[in-house]
Amino acid sequence: MLVPDIAVVPRPASATVLPGGPFVLTAGTAVLVDPQPELVTVAVLAADLIGRLVDGPVEVRHHEPGAVGVIRLRLSDQLPAGEEAYRLVVGRSGVLVEARTPAGLVHGIVTLRQLAVPAPEGALHVPAVRVEDAPRYAWRGLSLDLARHFFGLADLQLVVGLLAHYKLNVLHLHLSDDQGWRLEIPSRPLLTQRSSGSAVGGGPGGFLTAAQFAELVAYAQVRGITVVPEIDVPGHVNAALHAYGELVPDGRAPEPYTGTQVGFSRLHDAVPATAAFLADVLGGVASMTPGPWVHIGGDEALALDREEYVALVRRAADVVRAHGKGVVGWQEIAHAGLGEDTVVQYWDDRAGAQADRDALVAAARAGARVLMSPGQHTYLDMVYDTATRLGDPEGPALGQDWAGPVELRDAYEWEPSTLVPGLPPEQVIGVEAALWTETLATLPGLTQMLLPRLAAVAEVAWTAPDRRDWAGFRQRVAGQGTFWDRLGVSWYPSPQVDWQR
Ligand code: ACM
Repeated sequence: MLVPDIAVVPRPASATVLPGGPFVLTAGTAVLVDPQPELVTVAVLAADLIGRLVDGPVEVRHHEPGAVGVIRLRLSDQLPAGEEAYRLVVGRSGVLVEARTPAGLVHGIVTLRQLAVPAPEGALHVPAVRVEDAPRYAWRGLSLDLARHFFGLADLQLVVGLLAHYKLNVLHLHLSDDQGWRLEIPSRPLLTQRSSGSAVGGGPGGFLTAAQFAELVAYAQVRGITVVPEIDVPGHVNAALHAYGELVPDGRAPEPYTGTQVGFSRLHDAVPATAAFLADVLGGVASMTPGPWVHIGGDEALALDREEYVALVRRAADVVRAHGKGVVGWQEIAHAGLGEDTVVQYWDDRAGAQADRDALVAAARAGARVLMSPGQHTYLDMVYDTATRLGDPEGPALGQDWAGPVELRDAYEWEPSTLVPGLPPEQVIGVEAALWTETLATLPGLTQMLLPRLAAVAEVAWTAPDRRDWAGFRQRVAGQGTFWDRLGVSWYPSPQVDWQR
């Protein structure tokens, strides 16, 4: 008998269809948990997510032995290894989600949500299944550029919801660049006072206050997502130089920059104000960040020679480490030899970047971990194909093409552990999609570039290679469009999939 695969993205490690009828999900379904504080938060999230599916409030109740027709959430150490592992068992009489951690429970709830299908009289049916699941990689992220165009708290919360739906667990925010400064740093008020009101093409810009950043971090944390803030140094710093002219040797602050060139701005190691700037800004960001990582950028510092580049990257890394955080940086930081507690993010997979690849392999062999964001597969700001023009007909077309095009299948069909020859596969910590916003000024534009490709990258990051294949993915992802429609988010109906309508 041909058993249809359950339509969950990313594909679970194991899923067995069980005999017996479906679980019927209605507005009367309750979520039951033990009264532990960390469980109450996740139960409230579960009730909210399920309530939105059934269009009615779902109650959270405390443990009632023997209750039927309920969704039980339980912490358990009787699961396969891994912080994020979960087990979901669905039957006619109830649902049980078990995990080692609240983050694992969130994954189980998301799987439950994806399994629910419309049934008569407004109910939803969840087929009887047993899912045992855990991620392949510990780091499954999205890097989002807030500097070229700014997106505020509400938009970012929507993005966090999408990340959670595909079991991604890192939101990396690119908070500074030539075109604008996007995070309030209390000890350096001029950064946002002078440099947040600019964006590519003369857009209005904007920034997150420290309080909004904290709110976003907490919102993400409840969903099992860590925010990794990036302050890009020692290049990509025109907004910083505009705010603090003391960072320029002649003391003259440059004008705001609203174009899309890269590589022209730089810090100066010999300028006395530089060290204090790095200490204040990276120290400030580290202390605003409960997560373990701070990203120091490090890409495309084309106006610096290697020696000064390395000196500045080491200075930045020292500040981050002094605040107890691990250092993350784009692939170029591999030249700085930062050692074991570093994550180096691979991005430029063009032939011309061979020296960076060699340095990356050497850094990984010396113990650094590698985060895979190859442009040709995970840069979701690339066009889907050269013949399709997305975006407002009156405005600029969405997407760039220097690494692309990146169609859905390109985002799906690649293998992180073997992509870079010579890289020790065990040093790969995970996979991160990236969305640069030079051409993306609106939320619909942003989500059209993310969806459906984010789901493909999520499966690369979550699912073991022997459980992945394009033919299966294109069938499973076909039902996701109706979910995005229900959320009211724009997406691109890639012709590579027969979308369910
Ligand atoms: C990058 O795309 N400049 C990291």
